[in-house]
Amino acid sequence: MCGIVGYLGADEATPLLLQGLRRLEYRGYDSSGIAVQNGAGLEIRKSAGKIVNLERLLSEAPMLGTTGIAHTRWATHGVPNYTNAHPHTNHDGDIALVHNGIIENYDVLSQKLLELGHTFRTETDSEVLTHLVAECFEGNLEQAVAAALTQVEGTFGIAVMSARDPNKIVVARRSAPLLIGLGENGDSAIWVASDVAAILGHTRRVIYLDDDEIGVLSNGGYKTLDLKKIDGSNGWVPIDKEISHVDWDLESIERAGYPHFMLKEIHEQPNTVQNATRGRLLEEEGTARLGGLDQIADEIAAAERIILVGCGTSWHASLVGEYMIEEMARIPTEVEYASEFRYRSPIIPPNTLVGGISQSGETADTLAAIQEAKRLGASTFGVVNVVGSTLARETDAGVYTHAGPEIGVASTKAFVAQVTALAVFGLMLARRRGMSLEEGQEIIHALQELPRLMDEVLNTDSHIISIAREFGESSNFLYLGRGPNFPIALEGALKLKEISYIHAEGYPAAEMKHGPIALIDDDMPVVFVAPQDAVYKKVVLNIDEVKTRGGRVIALVTNGDESLDDKVDHLIRVPKTLPLLQPILNSVPLQLLAYHIAVLRNCDVDQPRNLAKSVTVE
Ligand code: AGP
Repeated sequence: MCGIVGYLGADEATPLLLQGLRRLEYRGYDSSGIAVQNGAGLEIRKSAGKIVNLERLLSEAPMLGTTGIAHTRWATHGVPNYTNAHPHTNHDGDIALVHNGIIENYDVLSQKLLELGHTFRTETDSEVLTHLVAECFEGNLEQAVAAALTQVEGTFGIAVMSARDPNKIVVARRSAPLLIGLGENGDSAIWVASDVAAILGHTRRVIYLDDDEIGVLSNGGYKTLDLKKIDGSNGWVPIDKEISHVDWDLESIERAGYPHFMLKEIHEQPNTVQNATRGRLLEEEGTARLGGLDQIADEIAAAERIILVGCGTSWHASLVGEYMIEEMARIPTEVEYASEFRYRSPIIPPNTLVGGISQSGETADTLAAIQEAKRLGASTFGVVNVVGSTLARETDAGVYTHAGPEIGVASTKAFVAQVTALAVFGLMLARRRGMSLEEGQEIIHALQELPRLMDEVLNTDSHIISIAREFGESSNFLYLGRGPNFPIALEGALKLKEISYIHAEGYPAAEMKHGPIALIDDDMPVVFVAPQDAVYKKVVLNIDEVKTRGGRVIALVTNGDESLDDKVDHLIRVPKTLPLLQPILNSVPLQLLAYHIAVLRNCDVDQPRNLAKSVTVE
């Protein structure tokens, strides 16, 4: 998604802003730009494509100035090109604005501005917002921004500068993340960023803005205003905001020697499981403790139904969570696509818990689904990776997955962390609802054993590369599984298609007979997730159905199972754990298979085409 970084301090802004944009590249973008205040006015440099194009432009035409804003754009309105790139300016070029989000009433606003004599150079909603700020400007930038934003419907994270109110950056947010960074160790610099990664090398002291809050950054420091409260002629009411400390290290954001962030993150997963369970497993009591859910302890005790909402990989994690929670805690649990849930007037009976599952905590559909659930009276919780994200702050309670920053656009460790956190959640519920101490302790021991078993899976990487080499040119894949491994089939298919651009579908194995079996031929590899569990024999029957039709089968089986050795074309062996935790291990070889096929196909593994790390628009 789009990225914002701004700087106001004693040093030249441009190199600091470029560095910040580089740290935001992983979020996915198609153009970038920078504006600085150079003492006489505003200067702008923009470019379509990668940031290297902007850097080349700046080396040919440098800009000087110690106050500036910068942006990486992921197109929502208007094609990705120079004209539509941010920053946008008004006619006179004395106001520059960068924007994340969507102005939903931009057509009404643009019509009003056209009638006032404005003309537009671009197709973007963001330029309309720039002209609206200019129209509202009467000498004070924050007043102009506030007056403009009160007319806006939709979402925004913005940073604005004006040559007529210099040495100031005004920022504001609604449903698009934005934070203020404060210089450390006597450095009076002030930053704004849409993601802490952009400024982590400069400060760990941050202020997370909440919806409809404005920040005013100036040489004298900063102030924060509440856009929802006007105090008569005094304008918008100031608000105090907590200064948070960011504990992520920059190197955790670097690749650490791996060729791609995605491979680094796949190999981090043993630690991911440890981080997601650390301090949460109470071995003696055979249960789990999730302090972040204390605020809804009563609602959890009374819960009669759980609904999990998410998108993409997080929706798959939710599906695994459904099996785990129902199997362990015997609470009816259902999973909804967040984008569907938010618009279908969902029925939420009393004593329903609604959980938002999200790595970024900024996915627009998931945020909207949680807001709808709250409107309908449900208690909500988040299972979120990014600390301080909107979902983390808008749910009644939550569980951080502690996977650390996930830079690869294709989610891997965050998925494993989500499923692990949901397993811990299910254990906690189960032990309050009749699960025995022994069963609880068995699950705890299995969770504690997972990191070692995952290391074993990661050591099969060279074998998976050999399989990738055989199937790297395939045009279609089918992934099949049953029970809690059906979502793993879905996730394996998603991983492959999103980074290798090969068409892949995941299905419940039994569903193959109801259509997909027509696709079976020698050209379409079929991946079966076939651990030895209660439905293993049924999966083997499905494998037979594929083989008798000339299909080629890659079977993911449990270590020690040799019954398929003469039946299938390739085997991927995975250590055995409890059936309910087996999906966590089974997801790893499928991540590696997708990764190696994508590398063989020279795809942009970390930043696949058309994809964004966080989809903050509908
Ligand atoms: C996962 O590989 C994809 N990048 C995508 O499906 C992602 O899971 C989805 O957009 C949800 O994102 P979230 O977890 O940040 O809400």
